[in-house]
Amino acid sequence: MPDPVNSLKDKVVVIGGGAKNLGGLISRDLAANGARAIVVHYNSDATRASAEDTVAAVKSIGADAFAIQGDLTRVSENKRLFSETKNRFGKVDIAVNTTGMVIKKPILECTEEDYDKIFAINSKAAFFFMQEAGRNLEERGKIVTIVSSLLAAYTDSYAIYPGSKAPIEHFTRAASKEWGSRGISVNAIGPGPMETPFFYGQETRESAIYNQNAAALSRWTKTGLTDIADIAPLVRFLVTDGWWITGQCIFANGGYTTR
Ligand SMILES: NC(=O)c1ccc[n+]([C@@H]2O[C@H](COP(=O)([O-])OP(=O)(O)OC[C@H]3O[C@@H](n4cnc5c(N)ncnc54)[C@H](OP(=O)(O)O)[C@@H]3O)[C@@H](O)[C@H]2O)c1
Repeated sequence: MPDPVNSLKDKVVVIGGGAKNLGGLISRDLAANGARAIVVHYNSDATRASAEDTVAAVKSIGADAFAIQGDLTRVSENKRLFSETKNRFGKVDIAVNTTGMVIKKPILECTEEDYDKIFAINSKAAFFFMQEAGRNLEERGKIVTIVSSLLAAYTDSYAIYPGSKAPIEHFTRAASKEWGSRGISVNAIGPGPMETPFFYGQETRESAIYNQNAAALSRWTKTGLTDIADIAPLVRFLVTDGWWITGQCIFANGGYTTR
């Protein structure tokens, strides 16, 4: 018998960046596995169509859904995301944050603007999304944030990307401790380089080929990279039967980096 507390049955899920790529798949996957409702957050106007497609896909699976736009680097937008969810569905059980941005540049080329922009989305937005989740989640809620396997990489040109994701490990530890008495699990997942435009935007042909061959299990995948289809089930596990895992940062990368 599945444990109803740690199943998706009747659960309301907020997904930061839930419209496309990894977030879009997680929206569909949690709906397909029994969630009651999925709130599909998106940021740019260019993503609206993907958000609408995802909402339609979720509804066709049988769950409820709506799309909501917001720049999550603003604290007020995180508050609005969670308050709108509660207005529509009465509660929030699960919060998954997939938002992020990447800049690959040597340190000497990084500008103040690069630094402020990437820390605003990768650190500040992640922190305040988590804070709102902590304020609003039901007892026995679950929180997952997507970080990166580059947290364990020894490489040039990736200073401010993993640097701005690294604080999430500490936010995750503290949040899991602070909200453990309410039965809330908090974790982070670090995928390897994934087959999405996010990855290819930063890489040269040579560095893409390197990454396609860098994981221990690369030759057993379609592209050599991490497949989003191999990350979504891990998110699903952490927000259901995997509830006993908390305060952790788990790499899922086919053996790309390890520590
Ligand atoms: N692809 C990779 O190689 C890779 C590897 C490891 C980890 N990751 C991480 O995995 C996550 C998902 O990446 P992905 O590959 O699926 O690419 P993606 O779809 O481009 O995901 C990034 C998301 O962040 C959102 N976002 C950007 N700025 C935002 C802001 N100011 N406020 C709110 N949302 C904002 C984007 O929304 P809009 O597009 O609407 O602006 C988008 O939904 C990211 O956190 C990324 O760091 C990616």
